[in-house]
Amino acid sequence: MDKSLHETGESLIQNPGLGQLTRRGFIAASAATLASCKASSTISTDPTAAVKTPSNKDYRTPSVQGSALRNQAGNHPSNFSKSAGVTFSRVQVSGNYIAITFDDGPHPRNTPRLLDMLAKRNIKATFYVIGRSVDLHPGVLRRTVAEGHEIGNHSHTHRLLSKLGDTEVRKEMQRCQDAVGRAAGVRPRTMRPPYGGLLQRQRKLIHDEFDYPTILWSVDPLDWKRPGSSVVASRILSATTAGGIVLAHDLHSQTVDAMPATLDGLLRRGFKFVTVSQLIAMKTDTAAQASVTRTQ
Ligand code: NI
Repeated sequence: MDKSLHETGESLIQNPGLGQLTRRGFIAASAATLASCKASSTISTDPTAAVKTPSNKDYRTPSVQGSALRNQAGNHPSNFSKSAGVTFSRVQVSGNYIAITFDDGPHPRNTPRLLDMLAKRNIKATFYVIGRSVDLHPGVLRRTVAEGHEIGNHSHTHRLLSKLGDTEVRKEMQRCQDAVGRAAGVRPRTMRPPYGGLLQRQRKLIHDEFDYPTILWSVDPLDWKRPGSSVVASRILSATTAGGIVLAHDLHSQTVDAMPATLDGLLRRGFKFVTVSQLIAMKTDTAAQASVTRTQ
């Protein structure tokens, strides 16, 4: 029942016998309807003939449950200057803006489930993906990008980069960047080192050569230790402040289970979600802010 339509779509695409049905927009059709379509032999092979649309009366739109809360953030610019900084764990902004980030995907089941939750609330998140997983699940990444989320580089094989030489670090960044480009035609905007481990010298190298600032976090629910979804939600809710960057992992089903309560709780507290590059583009000069405050 809860199975995402997009997952159903993916399984269709992998089935060459149903490829044409997928292109004609039968992604949402129920299995029973598909079985009857497949059995039908009335589809004309004449390319000039009008394509007859079979009825799909058995399909019911899934009921949308849960939150009526919607993210109010508007169309913020995402272009930030390279001089904005090499490393961020939070960003000084004026306004109640935050960025939520999900690492270690894409995952074939948990990521689509999370995407449904985000779409329902009009929230755009930032996904730090592993290149190797992108190669395994390119369709999940395509959907993530198509729904307006931002992609960050989380290396190709999730090794501790601080133990690697420059050549290996470059290769980890490049291979992930190439995988994202192949799958979804976009370039990651920022990077996050696996385990948060990256030497200052390496951060500068990556910033110089790939234009990626290194993104750490200000809120860490330690969700990878699987403390239970209610603990994940309460840790995020109690630690998040304006300008914050929240770390979570769409690899873990428990983390995704925690998201409806977490996202609704943050919205109820007045936070507005933006992507990491949008948050950086909002960065205010603290000295300028102070002088504005003094002259008011
Ligand atoms: Ni990671």
